[in-house]
Amino acid sequence: MTTAQTTPSTDPQALLAAVLKSNEKTGNPRLKKIVEIGIRHLHAFALEADLTPAELEYGLDFLAAIGQASGPKKHEGILLADILGLATLVQLHDARHALAAGGTEPALIGPFWRANQPERKNGECIATPDTPGPRLTVTGRVLSLDGTPIAGARVETWQASPKGLYENQDESQQRMNLRGKFVTDAEGNFSFESVRPAGYPVPADGPCGDLLRAQNRHIMRPAHLHFLVVAPGHKVLATQFFDAEDPHAYDDVVFGAVGSLLRTFEDDGKGGVKLHIDLRMEPGETRVPKCPIP
Ligand code: BEZ
Ligand code: FE
Repeated sequence: MTTAQTTPSTDPQALLAAVLKSNEKTGNPRLKKIVEIGIRHLHAFALEADLTPAELEYGLDFLAAIGQASGPKKHEGILLADILGLATLVQLHDARHALAAGGTEPALIGPFWRANQPERKNGECIATPDTPGPRLTVTGRVLSLDGTPIAGARVETWQASPKGLYENQDESQQRMNLRGKFVTDAEGNFSFESVRPAGYPVPADGPCGDLLRAQNRHIMRPAHLHFLVVAPGHKVLATQFFDAEDPHAYDDVVFGAVGSLLRTFEDDGKGGVKLHIDLRMEPGETRVPKCPIP
């Protein structure tokens, strides 16, 4: 005997209910919740935008182009999350409790962190002698949220040159120039010499570039230094410090320049500049993120 079937309703709410029901047997509870929320927001988005079939097709082609533009050396999906502010939102939201307690603001890792950056001693220069530009001295301290210094923390740094290029984008720079891995001393201190970085454009040769142009947006990031700090018993802190005098300091194309991360590089009295940073880490599980490039 067959059960009587009711013809599904044409009402959007009934369609939504049917799609949500189709998700109910998902085994992984976190996946189930994320997909459920995603379905609800996607349906609401399509209705609010009065999305036409042609626009849906265009949007799906855009997503396919994001995938096609990605490979081992480039992840266009990361760039999409960056230019839409999603990467910054997720990081700031994840750090919300630490931020309320005075933790350092996180900032996106971006595509230029490399595995196996050179290990260096405190005080060493990360710039080869032929790197042009004003000298920069960085001193810093790694602390737990309660102010206790963290000894033996791993502090990775990477930055663009005064020409606005990372070493792996620029044949005139030596391999691993302007990159280093430091370990904090017993008082949580680290230090290094470098050159003042310049701002630079995000890669705009793919679909994200097309979107930025369609939005009539610029493609610049303000000058910055990246940090990735790993300390046992603490969440990994990925952040950046920005040159507040950069013309795009308050207009970062990927929205990473926030709060206390904007700094005025001080005159060092020797023709260069200096920067001191405190990195306040949140106690928690240490999960080192996936490195975007080898
Ligand atoms: C970076 O800071 O290295 C970066 C972040 C997002 C897009 C491109 C570059
Ligand atoms: Fe960068």
